[in-house]
This record gives sequence, structure tokens and C-alpha cells, in this order.
Amino acid sequence: MTTVARAIRAALLTADPRAKCFATRKVARAWRRGDLAWEFDVAMPDRPAWPAAPELLPPGQMPKRRKAGSERGRIALWHSLAHIEFVAIDLALDMAGRFGAEMGEDFVSDFLAVAADEAMHFALLARKLESLGSHYGALPAHAGLWEAAHATRHDVAARLAVVPMVLEARGLDVTPATLERVAAAGDKHGAKILERILDDEIRHVGMGTKHFLRCAEMTQSPPESLWQDLVKRHFHGAIKPPFNDSARLAAGLSRGFYAEIAH
Ligand SMILES: [Fe+2]
Ligand SMILES: [Fe+2]
Repeated sequence: MTTVARAIRAALLTADPRAKCFATRKVARAWRRGDLAWEFDVAMPDRPAWPAAPELLPPGQMPKRRKAGSERGRIALWHSLAHIEFVAIDLALDMAGRFGAEMGEDFVSDFLAVAADEAMHFALLARKLESLGSHYGALPAHAGLWEAAHATRHDVAARLAVVPMVLEARGLDVTPATLERVAAAGDKHGAKILERILDDEIRHVGMGTKHFLRCAEMTQSPPESLWQDLVKRHFHGAIKPPFNDSARLAAGLSRGFYAEIAH
């Protein structure tokens, strides 16, 4: 019987996107069935393995967005979403493998389920790109998405504050407008994919918030001010409106967390 840490590490170190999805779902399934030993005998890598394409560019060097209505604009949109989901697989795996020993079995169950969701999201988007005559890797992608994970690799509360509660919560804010645009353009299939992703992401933010609240309780800190301190220290982007307050609240993230530091 292999250990949970070894199985997670192997998925993180799988570079090929299809193979990473497969490995991720396999780990999640093995965990659910009780086929992995509760042992954290290997460390998670500093950086997961990624494919040679897409080329990763710093945010400032990304090509300008094409006009939204054009074929190339549509491909650019689905490509950037696919990349976010691809990195999200590694973010969820790393969460479970790096912090599982201190946070316990429920935490590992939650984040391996998240990782399996992200693998499904990625697969849906990769297929969508293929239906448009493109593929994941055809365009350059953002290099910055792993930074938040690296910056918080020693502190689970900071990781939860930044990854699910800032980055994934931001997805809740921006997805409805994208969904509306895609639906308005007559792309029903695309709209369905985004609806599913939005539903799942509300749950992901909710799991992040739930485990963050446990961290706050363990250190006897007021959760809102602990979150604000950690975000100021570890996240260098802006927390900016418009906020999807109802989706955030459904995920347990009330305005008491973010309204005060929004700018
Ligand atoms: Fe996702
Ligand atoms: Fe997610």
C-alpha cells in the first residue's frame, strides 16, 4: 500500500496535462476507498511538473486580449480559463499533501475532492478548446499563478487565506459576467461548463473558509482580522470590487472579511 503523500507527490510531478488529470482522479479515488496509508513520508515538490507548452510569460508580457467576439478571442478566453484550472489541480494537490499531516483526514478528503473537480474542469475546457480547433498549450499562459502557493508554503492559514479565499473567491466575482457574455453569444455548451465550474467553486471557497476558521480557532484569533493580516502579508494584488457578495456568502465568506481591505 502506497502512502497518501507519495501518491499526491506523484500526481504533482506528472507534467502531461491528460496524465496529471488521470493521476489526480486516481489519487482521489484511492483515498476515498481507503487504499492509501496515512503517512506523510515524502515532501511536496517546490514546483510541480508542467508541460513544455504553454509557454509561461510574466503578466506584463502576455499578448493583448483579442476582440471578445472573434474566433481568436474566444480561443484566448477558453485557453486562459483552462490554464487557471490546470494550475488549480496542483494547488489542491499541494494543499492536501503539504498540510494534510497537521490538518487531518477531513482536510485531505476535502482537498483531494477539490483536486478531482479541478481535473474535471480542466478536461472540460481542454475539450472545449479542441472543439474550436485549438488545444491547451497553443497559446502562452500566465506564469504567476503558482506564486501564491510558493509564498505560503510554510503556513497553512496563509495558504487558505490566499488561495481559496482570495484567488478562488475572485473567480466567483468574475465568472458570472463571462457566463453572461458566452450565453449572449449563443454558446450554450460553453455557458453550461461555466455554470458547473461556478457551482463547484462556491464549494471550494466554502471548504477553504471552513478549514481557515479551524486555524483561527486553534490560534484563538478573530478570523476576519487574522485573514486580513495574512492577506496583507502574502498577497500583493488588489482585493477589488465588484464582489459577488451572494456567492461569497454562500461560501461562508461574509463582507466582514473583505470589505474593509478592498480598494
Ligand atoms: Fe476549478
Ligand atoms: Fe476551485
